[in-house]
Amino acid sequence: MESKTDQTELQKNQKRYREIITRLPEKKGWRQEEILSEFGGHWWRKPNIQGLLHARENFRARPDDFVICSYPKTGTTWLKALTFAIINRFKFDEATSPLLKRLPHEFVPYLEVEFAFFPEIDVLKDKANTLFATHIPFGLLPKSILDSDCKMAYIWRDPKDTFISLWAFLHKEKSEDGEMSGLEESFDMFCKGVSVYGPYLDHVFGYWKAKQENPKKIMFLKYEEMRANPIPYVKRLAEFMGYGFTEEEEAKGNVERVVNLCSFETLKNLKTNKGEKGRKDRPGTFANSAFFRKGEVGDWMNYLTPEMAARIDGLMENKFRGSGLLRHDR
Ligand code: A3P
Repeated sequence: MESKTDQTELQKNQKRYREIITRLPEKKGWRQEEILSEFGGHWWRKPNIQGLLHARENFRARPDDFVICSYPKTGTTWLKALTFAIINRFKFDEATSPLLKRLPHEFVPYLEVEFAFFPEIDVLKDKANTLFATHIPFGLLPKSILDSDCKMAYIWRDPKDTFISLWAFLHKEKSEDGEMSGLEESFDMFCKGVSVYGPYLDHVFGYWKAKQENPKKIMFLKYEEMRANPIPYVKRLAEFMGYGFTEEEEAKGNVERVVNLCSFETLKNLKTNKGEKGRKDRPGTFANSAFFRKGEVGDWMNYLTPEMAARIDGLMENKFRGSGLLRHDR
């Protein structure tokens, strides 16, 4: 139960955040009445800026914390499940894991998402938790993440599949901001960088540059590579988190167990992730099932024309050329 002073402080801060937000440049989002605001070179929904400002002022990262960083729809849910399963594998097995009963998002809170809607449940203050996630671009992360020894994993994905996944996901949102724009209009906005947390390519590149400067702090994962062959990546992830699998565990098949428990096929087919059921801890604007669509690499081919694909591939090539991020210049 919060004291009266906490409430007053909270309301004062929320007012201060709202005042900052009203001064920001705005653009129409992907829905007819959705407004995105620009903050720090990226586009945001207003509630998430409140959460960002709150996290920047209040998050105190500890050395044992682990932060999953990503642009939306690049594999966050998967990485949340994997990191949770890795660190809890001595407590639960594949028959008793809480992941079988609840959405992975319930176990790994976002730093910036919930604050505006549920300020009374301040996920930043839960001392028992060491796993966090965020879509905050690297340059805007709370300073304490960079100052502490905590580690981060960043997952990214082909921008064409990221776009299609986001577009399909937003269609499933319970929203009061009107109809979604058509595919072509949304795609044009995505290419121009106007999307939640966009520009996408800047988001990826910001973390990539940071990883080059500090490889011990940030691990980079690519959705397509993990999807093709998850085991070596899950082993490396566990090692990087400080929870490496021993030889004995490997021989017992424990890596495969974690991979299978967190696989798209397992999670999508759980009762809790089917139909219209939502998360159990608090209401959300998506059914759990929205987080498990197809899990395919290259689904963009069913939606984008060759010209659209060439446009975004060209943007990616220009942005990433020579950086080591593209397979052919590694
Ligand atoms: P698709 O829309 O292409 O199917 P995020 O978790 O960042 O929101 O990303 C969602 C994307 O990851 C969706 O892609 C979703 O289906 C896929 N996904 C969810 N859980 C997964 C898992 N366990 N393994 C692989 N992909 C998964």
